[in-house]
Amino acid sequence: MLMLLAAISGGAAAAGDPATLNLYSARHYQTDEALYSEFTRQTGIRINRIEGKEDELLERIRNEGRNSPADVLITVDAARLSTADEMGLFQPIASKKLEAKIPAHLRTDDWIAFSTRARVIVYAKDSVQASDVANYADLAQPKLKGKVCSRSGSHPYNLSLMASIIAHEGEAKAESWARGVVANFARPPRGGDTDQIKAVAAGECGVAVANTYYLARLMRSDKAEDRAIMEKIGVVWPDQKGAGTHINISGAGILKYAPHRESAERFLEYLASDSAQRYFADGNNEWPAVTGARIDNPALAALGPFKADTLPVKSLAMYRAKAQMIFDRVGYR
Ligand SMILES: [Fe+2]
Repeated sequence: MLMLLAAISGGAAAAGDPATLNLYSARHYQTDEALYSEFTRQTGIRINRIEGKEDELLERIRNEGRNSPADVLITVDAARLSTADEMGLFQPIASKKLEAKIPAHLRTDDWIAFSTRARVIVYAKDSVQASDVANYADLAQPKLKGKVCSRSGSHPYNLSLMASIIAHEGEAKAESWARGVVANFARPPRGGDTDQIKAVAAGECGVAVANTYYLARLMRSDKAEDRAIMEKIGVVWPDQKGAGTHINISGAGILKYAPHRESAERFLEYLASDSAQRYFADGNNEWPAVTGARIDNPALAALGPFKADTLPVKSLAMYRAKAQMIFDRVGYR
């Protein structure tokens, strides 16, 4: 009982009230508010949201153990979801509805992707040609010496990209790619994706990689200086003649000791519904995971159709530790 009280005072509701869902969220997007209130409107199930940084949330759920009030964990990046899975925090999802809606490469037994984002190459239009950066492999070519800007190699977005390269090319080729990229750095890695995009526009670097929703955000911004950035840069869908452009995901899983299991499953099924898929696309500029979901987002439409890598999200998770080891070895910090 004491443990239970401690859990309640933490902000989430205890078991017993079926019209409740305790959602642990590490998605950092304000537009998610509408996504959640629409679920409550449709189902009458109230959402108690605990927001936090990924690592802290995972630690918290682990420490709460059997008494954890957490029903669903929602976060971004395959590597992070698989970390939660490896910690044994999830229970299997057995929903025929979700199996039918979400393509097999975007789900595992224990967690499911609900939206995707692509990791594209951006280049300075006045100093680099699109044809020079058609593939991720080009980032390691000597022709780009002193031109590549990057965020830290330890960031999950770059680790997942590297994991996909290991999965496709093998470890040895992936390592020489990473060495080549490091040799081409314009400056030591720092900042986030938007900082790299800005640095390319400012001429501090010739190329960088970034997630598509950061680009869409700048395209849709009401600030003239944001749109001016987009004028200066070009965007390339890498590897269109090969495996396709690397995509990462945002996804969710049901926690092992979820007190409201039924609400949790309904919530996951809601995330795959037409209206929720539209929120991901229109609110946060992500692509729907559900095939054929209709969206209305001018920035995504302008970015255009592309061939996405269909490597299973499981593989991204599987090679993550290896990706980190190689980055450490080659000094991609
Ligand atoms: Fe992000």
